[in-house]
Amino acid sequence: MYFEGLLDAIFGQRFNPVYHLGALCWFFYWIVSITGIYLFLVFDTGVNVVYDSIEWLTHDQWWLGGIARSLHRYASDAMVFAMLIHMLREFALDRYHGVRWFAWFTGVPIIWLLLTSGITGYWLVWDELAQYMAIASFEWLDWLSIFSEPIANNFLREGSLGDRFFTLLIFIHIFVPLALLFVMWIHLLRMARAEINPPKAIAWGAFGLLMVLSLVFPAVSHPPADLSKVPVVLNLDWWYLFVYPALDWMGAGAMWATAIIFSVVLSIMPFIIPHRAPTPAVVNLDNCNGCGRCFEDCPFGAVTMQPRTDGHPSYEFEAIVKESFCTACGTCSGACPSSSPYRRGEELITGIDLPDVPLTAVRARLNAEAKRLTGDVKIVVFGCEFGGALKELESDVVGTVQMSCIAQVPPAFIEYALSRAGFDGLVLSACRPGDCYHRLGVHWTEERLTGYRDPYLRPKIPRDAIRVSWARPTEMGKIRRELGEFVQDVTNSKKKLTHDSRVELESVAGE
Ligand code: HEM
Repeated sequence: MYFEGLLDAIFGQRFNPVYHLGALCWFFYWIVSITGIYLFLVFDTGVNVVYDSIEWLTHDQWWLGGIARSLHRYASDAMVFAMLIHMLREFALDRYHGVRWFAWFTGVPIIWLLLTSGITGYWLVWDELAQYMAIASFEWLDWLSIFSEPIANNFLREGSLGDRFFTLLIFIHIFVPLALLFVMWIHLLRMARAEINPPKAIAWGAFGLLMVLSLVFPAVSHPPADLSKVPVVLNLDWWYLFVYPALDWMGAGAMWATAIIFSVVLSIMPFIIPHRAPTPAVVNLDNCNGCGRCFEDCPFGAVTMQPRTDGHPSYEFEAIVKESFCTACGTCSGACPSSSPYRRGEELITGIDLPDVPLTAVRARLNAEAKRLTGDVKIVVFGCEFGGALKELESDVVGTVQMSCIAQVPPAFIEYALSRAGFDGLVLSACRPGDCYHRLGVHWTEERLTGYRDPYLRPKIPRDAIRVSWARPTEMGKIRRELGEFVQDVTNSKKKLTHDSRVELESVAGE
């Protein structure tokens, strides 16, 4: 998190590439595909001509074929790099557990498919490196003894490797990346509106870097494969080819065991590492009008709409929660038109709510904090579990209300805080944009505040009484500073809402 703070300082919070690693993987995939199609169309695929054909592309047509080859290679490397950091981040930020197991579990085959795609690409050059890799790979496969004759024998003497075998390699190099694409699609099936395109600035920046690399260090081949010689000096692409020194070092059997154990342990991690499983959202049919906003906003596709089961004369649909998809972020209750804090009654019952952190408890906490504060101004901070530590911000002028996700409460709660509860200012403090623990909470909140998304904050609500402070837990200094400035602003300019404007707000709220 400290390191990411440094990247925030360099790139800005909105264009920090680490918040868009999955999307960057997709972006690199498209670069690899487009350049790959060009290379495939232009180069000759016969085993005896392929090397010369790639040499021609690299040196004679360097301005197109050479750049395409380098981009193909460096974008593939970048994809492994982005994937590894993406995986480590999801693990470190605890976003792989419970109902989120699916993305993690389907990520594991992606690792192997990506490595295989890259490795088979290196074969196609048919240089000394390809020769070494092909022999080592088939020796590894031969260890399983599933073929009647060891396939590595194909590479042991001149003339034994035919064009048809080479065509098979090309087929594998096309088929495996297509399978990868398919699994990448499956990977996202449980995420609504998954980000598959990085912000434009990041995409252009990444593309520019790859172009610079391609021009400064163009991808080149080793000397042509020669089966009568054993290759001695090889320059490995460590992003993909680290497996070969490992294979040389540990032997085929141990390598199989390592690969299998690694995959199995990685796959079952979401199930074996203990974690707190929050209770999924619950629909209260009496308060659900079937509007479908919860269905629209759920970041995990956990809410679906079905025909009414209670025979209500006016409403056609009702929301239902697929418990095995719900992360209990509460975004649904923040979208629900019934989630109004102005509703009468001791208990606030809404159309869809979280049993662990019900809206009625959020409202009660808000009112209790308003009563507790004794300072000249009253400020409340709305925050989530994954931003800064709210408790540390409390004082006689600052109260805090923690919710599951910042999108759990609708803008009506902001109105309520600034009118009926009597606060002079309100701060929203949660995860950074693009990196919300519950994926879309910050995004939806920003859209609700700016009026792009229902339920939106009404224009009558004074914007200078509201601040946002998106920050990670390690940025308490930033939150404190921004909060301090806000408290000062509210105090100095006497932004405190007058009795009259409160009354006005009350009447707006009543509409
Ligand atoms: C080429 C490789 C990969 C691509 C293109 C990819 C793509 C993505 C994308 C686009 C997202 C959604 C981001 C969002 O909108 O919130 C995502 C989330 C995720 N990915 Fe990957 N991913 C890849 C590899 C992996 C691997 C290897 C793992 C782990 C083994 C993994 C685990 C996850 C997890 C746990 C999430 C978060 C799910 C959640 O928030 O509920 N991914 N990935």
